[in-house]
This record gives sequence, structure tokens and C-alpha cells, in this order.
Amino acid sequence: MLNREEIMGWLRENDPERVAELYKQADDIRRENVGNAVYLRGLIEFSNMCSRNCGYCGIRIGNSSVKRYRMSPDEIMQCAKKAVSLGYGTVVLQAGEDRSLPVEWIVDVITQIKSLGVAVTLSLGERPMAEIKKFKQAGADRYLLRFETSDRDLFEKIHPSLPGERSDRIQILRELKEVGYETGSGILVGIPGQSYESVVDDILLFGDLGLHMLGVGPYIAHPQSPIDVEPLPEGQQVPTGVEMACKVVALARMACPKANIPSTTAIATLDGIAGRTQGLNCGANILMPNLTPQKYRELYEIYPSKAVLSEEGAAQSLADWFKTIGRYQGEGRGDSPAMCH
Ligand code: 5AD
Repeated sequence: MLNREEIMGWLRENDPERVAELYKQADDIRRENVGNAVYLRGLIEFSNMCSRNCGYCGIRIGNSSVKRYRMSPDEIMQCAKKAVSLGYGTVVLQAGEDRSLPVEWIVDVITQIKSLGVAVTLSLGERPMAEIKKFKQAGADRYLLRFETSDRDLFEKIHPSLPGERSDRIQILRELKEVGYETGSGILVGIPGQSYESVVDDILLFGDLGLHMLGVGPYIAHPQSPIDVEPLPEGQQVPTGVEMACKVVALARMACPKANIPSTTAIATLDGIAGRTQGLNCGANILMPNLTPQKYRELYEIYPSKAVLSEEGAAQSLADWFKTIGRYQGEGRGDSPAMCH
């Protein structure tokens, strides 16, 4: 694993040839540890209701211009069946942090999806550990919870704690591992107020936590959720954008060689298919096609103009694309080999 100075050196590297060298090293580590398969995860954004007021996110509770929805269990099952028919081995259930969503409701949805024989990943934000354990008992396999930034002061500013609670995602991640989840986290790159030092800390923390999945994306400002933090002076502020996000993907691969790492939708939003390819070529081995029905998808606007990896009728073009970059679609669940330690 790289040390603090080496990570800092890469984050500040501007020479395109050197950056290409970083990507190549990460790509080699990816190949050696998780091979050439690209696993597809069917993403279902089943509710945009949220109790939180995160400064970066378009579906925060304070954004009153959002029309709220929650899909029915039947609608969710339709999407899950589509994932199965497309050959995906995993369904990702994502929602805003909808605290009014009853635990039994979620347990029932997990149970139904598990009957299809796929892995279930939850991305539901911070919920009481007692609930998270019930989801595990119902068959949920994996949990995603980005810590967004390890800079505690910045995190508090962009992700206000709920009254009477202190949001501690790093502690939750440790508990998720203890409960037996394949555990994923990650950060936003280019948050106003985010320093290079803090991103070095984030990457070191990926390794310390021994994460099984890592998602990294550039911060994309949402007009109705402008973060209320001044950027740091030039040279200290981490820029957003594809290149910086890809550097962090590459460094994440080095920190957790056996993790499953997506080429994220946020990267594709800034640079389309080229961005997706770039992510796959600098350490990523996962894609998350969106299976949310169109009428809901447009209401799940965590940031504007979210890219869509079209899933239907696109199987052949996906296969062709993978071939051009020396990859192929993974079959089965695609569990992280990191789960063994
Ligand atoms: N830009 C990019 N990514 C965002 N996310 C939330 N808001 C934004 C934004 N404005 C990411 C967060 C969250 C994940 C589900 O989406 O990192 O954890």
C-alpha cells in the first residue's frame, strides 16, 4: 500500500504521462485481483423520500420542489425480475434515508427479491443497527454507505446530524462488517472545502477499514442544493472532475486490491461513455445499470443530468464495448474476494 506522501504525490500529479502510469498500475492490480470480468448491478431507486438535509444532494428534505415517490413492492419486484432476465447477479436497493419506511416493509421486499436467487445490496443511508441486522437476517448480502469525507468538520457542514443523533458513518461501517455484510463505502471528490490532506486520509481509511466495495464520484452541484461552504484557496481545494475522480478510483484500487469498485454514474455524467471506460481502465470492475422505471428515475435527481446506462436491448452493445477494452460481462453474483479476510 502507498504511504501518505505517495498518495499525495499522485493526487497532485499533473503530468499526463505520469497520471497514465498511475492508471496503468491500478489497472494491473485490478486484473491480478479481480480479473477481467465486469459485473453488472441492477440499481433500483425505489424511494426519493428522505429525512436528511445534505447540502450536496438534490433529494434532501429541504428541497421542496421535488415530487416525492415510493415504489410499491410489486413495482420493485418487476424491476428485480428484469435484472434477473438481463443476467445480472445483484440487485441494489437504493433510497433516500426514508426513516418512515417500516422495517417490516423492507424485510418483506428483501425476502421477495432473495427468492429470485440474486444477491441483494442495500443503500438506504443510516438506519438503526437493530434494523440493519434484521435486513441481514432476511437475506441482504451487502450494504453501501459512503462516508463522503473523513474530514469531520466538513462532513458536519454538508451532512447535518439529525436532532439528538451524531452521524458516525465510520462507526456504522465497522458494525456492518461485524454483522457480516459485504461492506462498501466511498467519497465525493471535489466537495467545496475539501482539502488534499483530507482525501489522502480518506484513501488511507479505505485500507484501514478493509472495505469490500468502494464507490467514488465527482461532486456535481445541484441547483436546488448548493453546498453552503466556501471553496478553499486555489492549490488547497480538491477540484471536482473526471480526472481527479479517476485518480481516487485508482488509489482506492491500490488501497483495497480485492474490492469491487464501480465506474460510477457521476463519472459518466461528466464524460459519457469515455468516462465510464476511463473508470474501468483505472481500477474499476463494476457497472450499475439503472433499472428504475422512467417515471420515477427523473424524480431521483441526487444531482442534475444523471447519466443512464441503457439496459434494455443494449446487451449486445455492452458485450461489444467490453470486448474492445479486453473485458467481459461477469456471470453470477460477483461477490468480492475481499470477503475472505
Ligand atoms: N454529486 C455527485 N454525487 C452525489 N451524491 C449525492 N449527491 C451528489 C452530487 N451532488 C452521491 C453521494 C451518495 C451517493 C448515493 O450519491 O456520495 O452517497
